[in-house]
Amino acid sequence: MAGHYRALAVGVEIPLLGFGTYLIPDEQAADAVEAAIRAGYRHIDTAEAYGNERGVGEGIRRGLAAVGIGRDEIFVTTKLFPGMGGVFKSAREVETAFEASLSALGLEHVDLYLIHAPFTPEQRLEQWGAVVGLHESGRARAVGVSNFNVRHIEELVAAGLPLPHANQIELHPWSQKPEIVRFLEGNGIVPIAYSSLVPLSTWRAAPGHASGKTDEMRADGESGDSPFKAMAAKHGVSEAQVLLRWGVQSGYPVLPKSTDPARIRENAEVFSFELDEDDMRVIAGLDRGAGVAWRTGDPVNNA
Ligand SMILES: NC(=O)c1ccc[n+]([C@@H]2O[C@H](COP(=O)([O-])OP(=O)(O)OC[C@H]3O[C@@H](n4cnc5c(N)ncnc54)[C@H](OP(=O)(O)O)[C@@H]3O)[C@@H](O)[C@H]2O)c1
Repeated sequence: MAGHYRALAVGVEIPLLGFGTYLIPDEQAADAVEAAIRAGYRHIDTAEAYGNERGVGEGIRRGLAAVGIGRDEIFVTTKLFPGMGGVFKSAREVETAFEASLSALGLEHVDLYLIHAPFTPEQRLEQWGAVVGLHESGRARAVGVSNFNVRHIEELVAAGLPLPHANQIELHPWSQKPEIVRFLEGNGIVPIAYSSLVPLSTWRAAPGHASGKTDEMRADGESGDSPFKAMAAKHGVSEAQVLLRWGVQSGYPVLPKSTDPARIRENAEVFSFELDEDDMRVIAGLDRGAGVAWRTGDPVNNA
């Protein structure tokens, strides 16, 4: 795992393999994050809205102690919950929320702080100004956005604000977002891929785990004719590894989430094989447009 990084425009290196923690309850987060660090992950993704920053922070401390590395060897992302129901955090409240996240995590700084979603023009401009201030204070080494489309980012620039260093969006073979990715890459903004494993039949299969997958997608995920099953067999890896490999081979940091220690280890093994040109060409033809993890937040639906 070590050595697979990508530089953000601000010079900070982001590991391509990250560990996602959405839907991991606070009381399970420490064990999951510790297992991830033991398995070689050096990048952990959480958010104020996940309600697990305390457990994630404990897992980071336990993991670092277990493998004998320091804070500077792990990349930690958290996200500002912008507000909801028309009530959004002011610039001052952004600062308070950030301090609360640092305190829950038990950290003095984060490596990346993101605005979780671009709900309204007023909200995103005010909050982005505040987030840029946190970067200037040194407590967020890099800053960015999540679920923003091209127009949302152009609005920040038109308001005289700096470009984000990253935009975390749903990216996998079924939601490739070529227009947004081209814009991000052309402007030095790193696309971070979330929900890489959507095409798997096991993705958020647990009861109560919301998913916008259609019946057709479910059937395709289970089908023995799935192109990912064929690629997995060809390379002697799992379908999950094929999907994650597509992400990192495309240059996107990926954030697989699991609470199963065996899957956590499996998902980390994405640098020992390569998808070939045929695989990449087949996958390029599988795009279905918008994502399914969070339909209202998806940048394609917000265009
Ligand atoms: N910015 C945003 O708005 C946003 C939105 C969504 C996600 N995210 C971030 O991205 C991370 C990843 O996205 P995600 O949690 O939606 O989904 P994901 O990582 O793509 O997939 C997780 C699902 O796949 C299952 N799974 C994991 N590894 C597997 C394997 N090797 N084989 C079979 N099934 C496997 C997991 O079940 P088990 O846990 O039971 O193994 C879980 O149901 C999140 O945790 C979060 O950090 C951000």
